[in-house]
Amino acid sequence: IGPKPLAGQRVLITAGGTVERIDPVRYITNDSSGKMGFAIAEAARDRGAEVTLVCGRTEATPPHGVNVIRTDSALRMRDEVMSRLDGTDVVIKAAAVADYRPASRADQKIKKTSDLLTLELVRNPDILQEVGEWKEARGGGPFVVGFAAETTDVEKHALDKLARKKCDLIVANNVAEAGAGFGAETNIVSVYGRGGFAEHLPQMTKRAVAERLLDIVRDARKGSSER
Ligand code: PMT
Repeated sequence: IGPKPLAGQRVLITAGGTVERIDPVRYITNDSSGKMGFAIAEAARDRGAEVTLVCGRTEATPPHGVNVIRTDSALRMRDEVMSRLDGTDVVIKAAAVADYRPASRADQKIKKTSDLLTLELVRNPDILQEVGEWKEARGGGPFVVGFAAETTDVEKHALDKLARKKCDLIVANNVAEAGAGFGAETNIVSVYGRGGFAEHLPQMTKRAVAERLLDIVRDARKGSSER
């Protein structure tokens, strides 16, 4: 048996949902369980990669044999991801990052004082886009895979995110479909890449999606190093 295919490769994966605090007992989050990111982490680990898993809020226990970094908010997740980019070979961003956070966090539990309470939200940084920009500014860096969670016009939105967020591949899931997306054991995805690459995967376990995705990443990296 030869060396494992990802031996010596550093792979950074994000998983789970971010948690945006309103006050000490309340927060905004989403339905991400972390399963998709965990499945990719396991698959990369089993191929011999040195895996770092940056997690937001997750339901299940992260896999063993990987370096787990716990975060909560998008701002913390951004710091953990950006500080690890140097020396990373592949970044795969399966986390569901909140696009907005409360403009301020109350130190004390917010009291019921009126019938109407307005929560002001501000835009979070786009971590995936910052990774793409970091790479562009340096003239090189990790191979970057983003996810796209959509409910309508999946291909159109995914291709827009591929270009805007400067990734090498984007994995689109229609999260309104049964058996796909948030919390499910299975997923149904389409993977889009530069130069018109498109592959549609039927419903399969998240682990099977992860295995096929790592094959696509391997082939795309091989192709870009041969050009
Ligand atoms: O965790 P599971 O329950 O298994 O569910 C899996 C999943 C549905 C969460 C996963 O398959 C998925 O689609 N993850 C991406 C969810 C998401 O945030 O999609 P988006 O279309 O809003 O974002 C596109 C990409 O930009 C994602 O790679 C996301 O990590 C990234 N992003 C988004 C916003 C932001 N502020 N920073 C980011 O980095």
